[in-house]
Amino acid sequence: MTINKDKNIEKSARLSVAPMMDWTDRHCRYLHRLLSKEVLLYTEMVTSPALVRGGAMHLLDFNDEEHPVALQLGGSDPAELAAAAKLCEERGYDEVNLNCGCPSDRVQSGTFGAVLMRSPGVVADCVKAMQDAVSVEVTVKCRIGVDDQDPEVVLPDFIEKVAATGCKRITIHARKAWLQGLSPKENRDIPPLDYDLVHRMKAQFPDLHISINGGITTLAEAQDHLARGLDGVMIGRAAYHQPADVLCQADPLIYGTGQATDPVDVVRQMLPYIELHVSGGGKLGQVTRHMLGLFAGNPGARQWRRILSENAHKPGMGPELVEEALAALPVAA
Ligand SMILES: Cc1cc2nc3c(=O)[nH]c(=O)nc-3n(C[C@H](O)[C@H](O)[C@H](O)COP(=O)(O)O)c2cc1C
Repeated sequence: MTINKDKNIEKSARLSVAPMMDWTDRHCRYLHRLLSKEVLLYTEMVTSPALVRGGAMHLLDFNDEEHPVALQLGGSDPAELAAAAKLCEERGYDEVNLNCGCPSDRVQSGTFGAVLMRSPGVVADCVKAMQDAVSVEVTVKCRIGVDDQDPEVVLPDFIEKVAATGCKRITIHARKAWLQGLSPKENRDIPPLDYDLVHRMKAQFPDLHISINGGITTLAEAQDHLARGLDGVMIGRAAYHQPADVLCQADPLIYGTGQATDPVDVVRQMLPYIELHVSGGGKLGQVTRHMLGLFAGNPGARQWRRILSENAHKPGMGPELVEEALAALPVAA
């Protein structure tokens, strides 16, 4: 695979795969990069205390082939976030993103994530400190508000304060987070989506690169948001569960470059990666769990999923199992 170290990251951000804890790990990102050369990939959130106080540098590991790749940080202490951002830059990430959208209890207790929607001044201080520490772009991912906040009032104020730092790119998950009473999962479905508000933010802040996120499941929807004037679209769950549907056509349709990819070819390209992972002591299932949805909706998809999910965790399993699962698919014949 080629290494896209010098991509124009603003252009890449026309489409991105969202940061998702426990899902968008390095194996998942390697797969997504084979499906699209252009899409911007985000890591799972890494907290600044884990890096700076905990020294958990392994959390920054990634494959060079993943570029362009952004690391998402969670935190609310400007000095600590600056130190963490520096570590990310040294490790070679193309962008550092600050999480202002995650509603989980664990994250709330550390005063970061969505609760930061209440403290735009703190967010601005954090972004400024990070920008002063690194030369890669510092971006923000936020909600439209939390709890009883009025998004029409707080979102423009939040964006204005963040933009005043010189931050040029922001991704907005177009729903509130309710910090009490909803689980993180419910907070991704229950608060209603308000796409129009995000579009109005683009009209109000025309110089800012604004990406929309939340509930977008197809490239056609993404194209529609772009055609209506937004700069980028971020897709999370759909890109994870149906990666081929979302990513195979992304290069020609969203970027006007390259060709559609073929999921069967991509599986074959994964084989040497899997071999290397397994021969280095890794487990097959750590990679194949991200591949289960590759053929969703196609004949043979159930056998593909079943062969991998029932066997990949067994000792000694390697790329042969993936070849066996592939052979069960009519499209691979
Ligand atoms: C399993 C899972 C983990 C997530 N972890 C994060 C995270 O670490 N940081 C973050 O900003 N958002 C996280 N999110 C939220 C997504 O980035 C995204 O904002 C949300 O899923 C809405 O987009 P979608 O409807 O396209 O999935 C997570 C979502 C899921 C499903």
